Amino acid sequence: MAKRPLNVGLIGGGGGAFIVNPHQKAIHFDGTRRVVAGALHPDPKIALAEAENWAYPIKGYTSYDDMIKAQAGLPEGERLDYALIVTPNHVHFDPAMKCVAAGIPVLCEKPLTVTLEEADRLVKTVKEKKVPFGVAHTYLGHWTSRFSRYIVRSGLLGDIRWVDSYYLQGWLASRTEDSGSMQAEWRVDPKRAGGSCCGGDIGTHALMQLRYVTGLDVKRVSAHMEVFVAGRTLDDHFTVYCELSNGGKALVRASQISIGHKNDLGIEIAGTKGTLQWRQEEPEAITILLPNQPDRVYWRGAVQGGDGFLPKDLPKDLMAEPTIPPGHPEAFHDAFARLHRCFEEDVRKYNAKQPFDCDGAKYANVQDGRTGIAFIDACLKSSHSEGAWTPMP
Ligand SMILES: NC(=O)c1ccc[n+]([C@@H]2O[C@H](COP(=O)([O-])OP(=O)(O)OC[C@H]3O[C@@H](n4cnc5c(N)ncnc54)[C@H](O)[C@@H]3O)[C@@H](O)[C@H]2O)c1
Repeated sequence: MAKRPLNVGLIGGGGGAFIVNPHQKAIHFDGTRRVVAGALHPDPKIALAEAENWAYPIKGYTSYDDMIKAQAGLPEGERLDYALIVTPNHVHFDPAMKCVAAGIPVLCEKPLTVTLEEADRLVKTVKEKKVPFGVAHTYLGHWTSRFSRYIVRSGLLGDIRWVDSYYLQGWLASRTEDSGSMQAEWRVDPKRAGGSCCGGDIGTHALMQLRYVTGLDVKRVSAHMEVFVAGRTLDDHFTVYCELSNGGKALVRASQISIGHKNDLGIEIAGTKGTLQWRQEEPEAITILLPNQPDRVYWRGAVQGGDGFLPKDLPKDLMAEPTIPPGHPEAFHDAFARLHRCFEEDVRKYNAKQPFDCDGAKYANVQDGRTGIAFIDACLKSSHSEGAWTPMP
């Protein structure tokens, strides 16, 4: 029988906002989810006007407080099945806490919060309320990220010695915040971005990619958070040497002043048996480098086991993941859709009062979000002490 489409409410997204766009496409990707409501702007009048002019009919609310109050009392099927939070960083914690308290599952943008104290409170409340909670670390949604995770975690590369996880951009290489870009304005403002611009915005993606693919955690950091563009108080360049939970080492680095780099997120993982390379700007393939062998390039959709490197039997759920045939490229929107699709599975179980996973295997959860904030916290302390080794809190 056809499924009832899940009802999604947007928190933020009006007035020329950015990340709401790929999200709302991803929500509608499978036909099993739809946007039905939104509190789209901090100004109540603009919020309603934006909802009125939305590309398809949605119910507008003057604020997220109003939306949460109105929706929480409705019966299942009529109320929101989940809320998507796509506001600037300082407006994540309050709506997330209120949704969770009202029993509404949340998919929240990263970084989870602006302080570690907020992140801790959110983790505690999510645990108490037992509500599905996802954090939108987009790049985990690439099939190749899942495949890389399988390769590394199953030991095919041997013990992991070294990881270079990076996210390089060039869009803040000059004072973009003075050019009328609302996205740049709040990112360089400590009140709205938190204690870090570059690290919080994109360093957290690089950290999450490392943790997701390798299964390793960062134990200690030696960080340099630097400001290259005059007049800024927050970092626009972020370099962190890390000690990993298995004793290996990693570089987690991000830059917003690397002219020419667009969304150059990538990872290189060197183990005792081989090396894996992946870049999100070319997300269809991963490269495996083995000693004294030609490089192996594995393309999504064309992977087969038993080839002398991969075992014959590959994990069924990985191979059954809905994708399109190889050569029809999957990219950013597909990654977003995969996150929403996996989150939907947990929300449907929650609605049916069944146990749900939300264990970080298919999308980042609230604990992962908290780890991102703890990482930034440790990096700030380390950077203030000229890179002194600092444990993760
Ligand atoms: N996952 C990713 O790949 C990715 C990419 C870009 C941005 N992000 C994250 O998404 C979030 C939004 O970033 P963006 O670039 O889309 O920002 P943006 O400035 O383009 O949009 C922010 C939106 O929030 C709205 N807003 C602000 N305060 C509000 C309030 N009190 N109530 C309702 N709406 C409010 C604004 O009106 C706007 O619609 C940030 O946390 C950012 O870090 C994630």
